Amino acid sequence: MIPFFRQEFNEEMKQAALSALESEKFVLGESVLRFEEAFAEYLGVKEAVAVSSGTAALKIALLSLGIKPKQKVLVPAWSFIASATSVIHAGSKPLLVDVSEETALIEPASLKSADRLAAVMPVHLYGQSCKMNELLDFCKDNKLLLVEDACQAHGAEFNGKKAGSFGDAGCFSFYPTKNMNVGGDGGMIATNNEEMAEKARSYRDCGRVSTDSHGLIGFTERLNTVNAAIGLVQLKYLDKWVEKRQKIASIYQKNLPQNAFFSQIKGSTHSYNVFAIKATEREKLLRVLEAEGIGYAVHYAKPIHLQPAFMDALGFKGGEFPASENLAKLVVSLPIYPSLKIEDAEKVCEAVNSVLK
Ligand SMILES: Cc1ncc(COP(=O)(O)O)c(C=O)c1O
Repeated sequence: MIPFFRQEFNEEMKQAALSALESEKFVLGESVLRFEEAFAEYLGVKEAVAVSSGTAALKIALLSLGIKPKQKVLVPAWSFIASATSVIHAGSKPLLVDVSEETALIEPASLKSADRLAAVMPVHLYGQSCKMNELLDFCKDNKLLLVEDACQAHGAEFNGKKAGSFGDAGCFSFYPTKNMNVGGDGGMIATNNEEMAEKARSYRDCGRVSTDSHGLIGFTERLNTVNAAIGLVQLKYLDKWVEKRQKIASIYQKNLPQNAFFSQIKGSTHSYNVFAIKATEREKLLRVLEAEGIGYAVHYAKPIHLQPAFMDALGFKGGEFPASENLAKLVVSLPIYPSLKIEDAEKVCEAVNSVLK
């Protein structure tokens, strides 16, 4: 049996968690501050604000940057649903756009500004950075905010700079399948805007501006101290873990047919949170993987606009975003994680090739 993923947790993380529980405040303890400082330093940004999930990070980032109701945020239709729901939670409207079928990412050259558009949310899907130079130009030319959904891109880079450090804010998730986790749900907002970070700290903490004064309509969306203590240890391993993911990816790239791969963005260093391939005979492939005891996932079975919640609320019927709709029929994600053995990755290749080659 080769599982689709394994949660990373070791003795050092266990000790850090115990020590935080025994000696710190459960909520907003010292470890939260230390995790924020270490994460900001890792990304090369001024501020990091720890929150309870990636969805909370995206929502709070948008609110803290001053996105207003009726304004729109451009979001790819091909992403996890939270990229778009976070915009709705923030009171604004997602303006969905199609992605490139070759890269699964927003293609900056195809973007157009629109009435009431206030921000762009590129998603560094699967761990590959979007074309950030072109996106920065597009946002500058059209006076738009840039909020990166880096929830799958811890450790990814574009032209040597970390994904999540380019925009007005970069948002991360620590859900267990991500490149690093916190032993539960968690998220982080990275920014160089100190004023925005202060607002985000208030939003996550019931809108507090001081102990008894609440200046904003906020949320209870802090990261627990025990999770921050685990995250602090995990962050030390992140680069090593990304290298291991890259090693597994290179085995897949060497052995599987080229036409199954997404294209690499020039200048981007992929962190391989997900190794997704395109398989024309997907159903047959899934049956083979099941028979061989190989775990897999489908990221995603439906593009965002065809999820029932969006079809009902926004009136999508299908046919609006052909590349995203086509990808939903083709993609399969193969096992990729630091502890996956090379021989197991080779077994995965044999099984996939028995259908694709
Ligand atoms: C691209 C993307 N955006 C947003 C999220 C939301 O993160 P969370 O599950 O921590 O709320 C995820 C996580 O699965 C994601 O993959």
